[in-house]
Amino acid sequence: MSKLPSQGAGAFPEAWEQDSDQGALPEHGARTQELSAIAPHWAAFYARAARGLMGAPSLTVLHERHTVVLGRESGVIARLLSDMGSQPAEEKRTRGRALNLVKRWLTEVHDARRTALAAASEASDAPDVTLPGRRPWTGRPHVLAQVRDELLDLFHGLGFSVYTSPEAELEEYNFGKLNFAPDHPARDAHDTYFLGQDVVLRTHTSPGWIRAMEERKPPLRLVFPGRVYRAEAVDASHMDQFHQIDGLFVDRDVSMADLKATLNTFARAIYRADLPTRIVPIYFPFVEPGVQMDVQCVTCAGSGRVGEGDEAKRCPVCKGTKWVEVLGAGMVHANVFRAVGLDPEEWTGFAFGMGLERIAMGRHGIPEIRLFLENDLRFLGQF
Ligand code: PHE
Repeated sequence: MSKLPSQGAGAFPEAWEQDSDQGALPEHGARTQELSAIAPHWAAFYARAARGLMGAPSLTVLHERHTVVLGRESGVIARLLSDMGSQPAEEKRTRGRALNLVKRWLTEVHDARRTALAAASEASDAPDVTLPGRRPWTGRPHVLAQVRDELLDLFHGLGFSVYTSPEAELEEYNFGKLNFAPDHPARDAHDTYFLGQDVVLRTHTSPGWIRAMEERKPPLRLVFPGRVYRAEAVDASHMDQFHQIDGLFVDRDVSMADLKATLNTFARAIYRADLPTRIVPIYFPFVEPGVQMDVQCVTCAGSGRVGEGDEAKRCPVCKGTKWVEVLGAGMVHANVFRAVGLDPEEWTGFAFGMGLERIAMGRHGIPEIRLFLENDLRFLGQF
């Protein structure tokens, strides 16, 4: 049997004396006095134990100290109480009275401290199991890169490979060899950034066709992704730089049917399998005939109007036309073949060109083209 603990402050570690007794119960002073009247060592005993409990920094430490002081079997108080049999009657009475007071009061001090610690840990660092998990931050491709890669994948499956051509391009490749007339308005400095006498920032990815056809022999199946520049006034739907992918198919006996099949395959894969498309004639210098492909407006489902009943108004996306233009295309112009030394009687081809921003905006409902270049993670993180 271990030595019986002393009845004064020495029953508990001295360190407990240093622990703060801030927040001690208001009754603390009166209790110490009451015990002093019985015997000073009971006041000291109570004071140190109370400080130890009140100063316990955590629930774990409080539990340990509770075991030392109030533990049912080997706690100091339990042992002092069970040892009373051998004491003289007088001593038995004072000790019994003191110990019972101390036991009740220390239990109160302990409970108060436990409540305070539990409340604090709930408020600060207790895990809240109802919160959503924390996802580790990982980078990802830019939304335009995602669209580009998806398109490259699709055209790769149709046998097209990637051809990269420069952003700073000879004027002759950007315009002349693509059959632009010398006085075509696109050549004006208002529309095009000139880097020097004969060099421009390319206004489209089509000059890549010229480079590819000068460099390689047909048949050719190529796609030309890249950034293009136009001297535009910037607003919600215009930027002076954006991204395109052109496609070029050159072989013998290529027809409009091949073009239409390719474009429909594209539209079904990128938009929706049953989305209506149409092809309408339009002029581009480098194709003949030239077309644009429209897809049915997704916003108004081809009705031209949004909203119900009296609220209905013109669709803001297609402007009530029911269709949205997605790309330009056509059969490669004979003059373009001549410009690269291919015989237009022998070679035929189709080509198309589309804007990545427009596809991404339509797909995700992005209203503002400038968002793509601002690199705001709150925007980019959504895709
Ligand atoms: N290069 C044209 C543009 O930038 C798009 C286009 C490509 C049109 C191929 C027809 C054929 O607008």
